[in-house]
Amino acid sequence: MSRTLPINKNDYIDVVFEDLTHDGAGVAKVDGYPLFVANGLPGEKAKVKVIKTGKSYGVGRLIELYEKSPYRVDIPVSEKHKYGGCQLEHISYEGQLKYKENQVRQVLNRIGKLENVTIHPILGMENPLYYRNKAQVPVGEQDGKLIAGFFKPRSHEIVDTDESLIQLPEVNEAVQTVKEICSKLGIPAYQEETHSGVVRHIMARYGKQTSELMVVIITRTKDIPQKNKLVEEITVRLPKVKSIVHNINSKRTNVILGKKTTVLWGSEVIYDYIGNVKFAISALSFYQVNPVQTKVLYDKALEYADLKGEESVIDAYCGIGTITLFLAQKAKNVFGVEVVPDAIEDARRNAELNEMENVEFADGEAEVVIPKWYQEGNAADVLVVDPPRKGCDEALLKTIIDMKPKKVVYVSCNPATLARDLRILEDGGYKTLEVQPVDMFPMTTHVEAVAKIILNL
Ligand SMILES: C[S@@+](CC[C@H](N)C(=O)[O-])C[C@H]1O[C@@H](n2cnc3c(N)ncnc32)[C@H](O)[C@@H]1O
Repeated sequence: MSRTLPINKNDYIDVVFEDLTHDGAGVAKVDGYPLFVANGLPGEKAKVKVIKTGKSYGVGRLIELYEKSPYRVDIPVSEKHKYGGCQLEHISYEGQLKYKENQVRQVLNRIGKLENVTIHPILGMENPLYYRNKAQVPVGEQDGKLIAGFFKPRSHEIVDTDESLIQLPEVNEAVQTVKEICSKLGIPAYQEETHSGVVRHIMARYGKQTSELMVVIITRTKDIPQKNKLVEEITVRLPKVKSIVHNINSKRTNVILGKKTTVLWGSEVIYDYIGNVKFAISALSFYQVNPVQTKVLYDKALEYADLKGEESVIDAYCGIGTITLFLAQKAKNVFGVEVVPDAIEDARRNAELNEMENVEFADGEAEVVIPKWYQEGNAADVLVVDPPRKGCDEALLKTIIDMKPKKVVYVSCNPATLARDLRILEDGGYKTLEVQPVDMFPMTTHVEAVAKIILNL
């Protein structure tokens, strides 16, 4: 039986916003039915017009604000910033931190049903702008010129963007410069509808501590027309560039990077430091995008691991071994597991680079490799996980519960899956002691958190 909706298209209604969506839209509830309204902030009262009603939610347009949030910053919400990932641009930084901290508290309570957990005040940035060390920007064409920017939500229309509130200036400059050079040399942009053309995305990565820049040009084609000229101009106009890489993605797909990369000029990697540890970063590897807050996050993970020097540690989802090497400074040995083979190569290189001999890395899925280790009689005293947004695989959580490491440190970029996984661990004999939210992504709706979990049997 279909449910009758409490509102109809074109209705004008008064609402109070309770929450924000991932895209930063206000969420109001009408008899329990969620209505998403761009530019509405939690706590605000407004008149809205209903412009769409679906089975599970509706969409409205803000008509009049009756009561403003004390955290609203009175600026017009800029399309460029919003689509470029600055969904919270119209909220003061204080308001953003409050919202994110509350989100962690609510979700741990509602989904995790966790009691007696200390949730600390969120750790924010002193300067929350221009922090991102990486951008990957889609390329298109408009009036015969190359454009590069961001897709409008739920569309394939690119908004040409020459500025960013959150990218490091060096990253922004690199993207703009490569766009201009490609345009000048007449290198065609990729055309999604016809699956033709050449340049799909421009990516730039910058080592903040080393001032080393990597440029990655992602194309549909195996060859880049005017390749030598392109490389030459990039090296002249971007003196900090240390690596120019070509990545080929010939598939019809929304995935940005293809599997094949070749170095067009310079080194295969750039270097950066987090604390005293030096890292080599290649084009395909995951590397945290906010170098300032990464140090804050890793220091907290290390504090929660509370290592004395005698422990065997597993670092699941280790990427290029960043947390692994942090932990290795204080542990007897650390085993890192990661699914991207290039990242594991980087991780091994990073261990050598830092002359750390008490680390080993395995290439594979954490939920396959760690159960196998356990079946072979290996166990860890401390287990660290830092999974992608979907959280830990159930098979891994089950192995943790069977293996019984004394401590688990969970680094999470999604409070909802963190809460789900903590509940599974609690039901399996673990206790969450404390959670530290960290703002790794100011101006966006994302929030990171680290949890300290102990065996409670
Ligand atoms: C949030 S990142 C964390 C990386 C690293 N700890 C860091 O801080 O840079 C998650 C990592 O998990 C990897 N990954 C995703 N699924 C995986 C799986 N099933 N098994 C192992 N690694 C996986 C991704 O490639 C990525 O490097």
